[in-house]
Amino acid sequence: MCGIVGYVGKKQAAPIILDGLRHLEYRGYDSAGITVLHDGILDTRKKKGKIVEGLAKLMEDKRFHGILGVGHTRWATHGEPSDRNSHPHQDQSGKISIVHNGVIENFESLRDKLKAKGHTFNSETDTEVLAHLIGDYYATNDGAPDGIHPLTNAVMNALREVIGTYGIAVVCSDYPGVLVGARRGSPLIVGVGRDEHFLASDASAIVAHTRQVAYLNDYDVVTVESDRFDVKNLGSDTAHVQISQIEYSAEAAEKGRYDHFMLKEIFEQPQTVRNAMRGRIDLEESTTKFGGLNMTTAELRAIDRVVIPACGTSWHAALIGEYLIEEFAHLPTEIEYASEFRYRNAPIEKNTLVLVITQSGETADTLAGLRESKRRGHKVLAICNVVGSTIAREADGGIYLHAGPEIGVASTKAFASQVTVLTLLSILLGRIRMLSGSHGMQVIRALEAIPSQMEAILAQNDHIKQIALKYASCEDFFFLGRQYNFPAALEGALKLKEISYIHAEGYPAAEMKHGPIAMIDEKTPTVFVIPTDPLYEKTYSNLEEIKARKGPIVAIATQGNEKIREKADDVIYLPPTIEPLNPLLAALPLQLLAYHIAVARGCDVDKPRNLAKSVTVE
Ligand code: G6P
Repeated sequence: MCGIVGYVGKKQAAPIILDGLRHLEYRGYDSAGITVLHDGILDTRKKKGKIVEGLAKLMEDKRFHGILGVGHTRWATHGEPSDRNSHPHQDQSGKISIVHNGVIENFESLRDKLKAKGHTFNSETDTEVLAHLIGDYYATNDGAPDGIHPLTNAVMNALREVIGTYGIAVVCSDYPGVLVGARRGSPLIVGVGRDEHFLASDASAIVAHTRQVAYLNDYDVVTVESDRFDVKNLGSDTAHVQISQIEYSAEAAEKGRYDHFMLKEIFEQPQTVRNAMRGRIDLEESTTKFGGLNMTTAELRAIDRVVIPACGTSWHAALIGEYLIEEFAHLPTEIEYASEFRYRNAPIEKNTLVLVITQSGETADTLAGLRESKRRGHKVLAICNVVGSTIAREADGGIYLHAGPEIGVASTKAFASQVTVLTLLSILLGRIRMLSGSHGMQVIRALEAIPSQMEAILAQNDHIKQIALKYASCEDFFFLGRQYNFPAALEGALKLKEISYIHAEGYPAAEMKHGPIAMIDEKTPTVFVIPTDPLYEKTYSNLEEIKARKGPIVAIATQGNEKIREKADDVIYLPPTIEPLNPLLAALPLQLLAYHIAVARGCDVDKPRNLAKSVTVE
């Protein structure tokens, strides 16, 4: 939900900020803008539309220069996407320019108060109100406390009045070498370079310049200069900030030889699944191990229930997690939409483990679920991809996915890594309970085979593309599967919806006859995940029910099942694996089908309309 970048140093700020914004476009792309400071004047260029359509053209002007600046790529919350509502926004005096990621909930009352003081506003945004509020404090500033920069002081005073969430970067024409940042609820990092510093919503924006970053905490306010930065905290006398090293290289955040990030990330899965397993398998004991759970075996054994809040694709992985944990560890497991969980009075008993799952580590609802659970005194573990993200830092312990940056808005490789990690975790929870060594070993062996099996599936990309082209003009799809493959069906439907805007529904195969089957006709294809497993015959009956109503069928079946060709219009074969791991394989053709259909329909696969990768608002 919006990406922000700030730069202060010795180089030209605009190209650095523009490049940073391109890497943050996955967070929002309905408009973009940059302010640079030169000769004591703030020069702001901003435009509706994706960077390439709008802002980039405004940047061709050679006069747009300066060594201090801020930039923004927007996902609209208050006010439609338009030039006027784009960030940066200025204060009343025009001396201060800010970019903002988040929502100022009390912006209307603040705006009324400022209007009464003579302020006039040019946009419908909450951010412009914050710019004016900072400007108002700055103008009336009667001396900042010792050790606090006057601009920082104005920002701190303004933020004390704000209800809501923010990651902001602020510049003032009076200070050509100072950038001020602050965060609450929205992520913000400081990039530490040689004679230059950066602010950014995440590391991908700055990794080309530095791999050293400091992750800010909520209520931190940072004053950044080219050779130093200083952090204060609005809520306490001391701020705790550590410098960490970004794990991945700048190339990892580039598309490389692929047309889209999504395709690159689909093809990375054999490797990212290997990364998720590395160092975590204990063959000797037929179990698994994790470095960061921060729980003893006795504590893990004392768990008698697991609750998993998550959103979107992570919720689908969580549903597979529920099946895995219940099967291998016999622990009652419930998954929750984090947006519901955070407000409902869900009973969490003493020995309940709360396990949040999130790729970004910044999803507002998931973060709120974590905080609510901690507030009630529960330990919370997180399965998370982004190192140093808010959830990763606030959880009591957890497991990183090590999938590298996921840039495509539709999640792909993170899903596979989440399911891999959930499989490993369920083996661990099982092996300290009733899961036998031989069963544990069987699952481990099957998991180890997954990456090369994924490679075999990816080799069918051309075949899958042909099937996608055949159905690309259809307007409704169903995705069906049973047991472990039901979440896979949900994920297949979500992928198609997200990137092609086709109506798609995922259902447990046998549930179709309780309503949705009424929608089946010759123009409504159904994608069946139908491996050769103990429920095969029953799923096959469900498939026949669809066929009897003239519904076209794409079957994702197990290699060797020739019979299915008699009924299915098209077949994609998966290598055989054990039942719980089939979704790890089935996800790949589902992702590729969605990808090729979306490309065929001319959709912007990496930046689908209305979506953002990291949802940092409620
Ligand atoms: C957004 C993204 C989805 C993602 C969901 C949860 O909706 O577009 O791809 O699954 O957020 O994100 P998280 O980072 O918490 O996994």
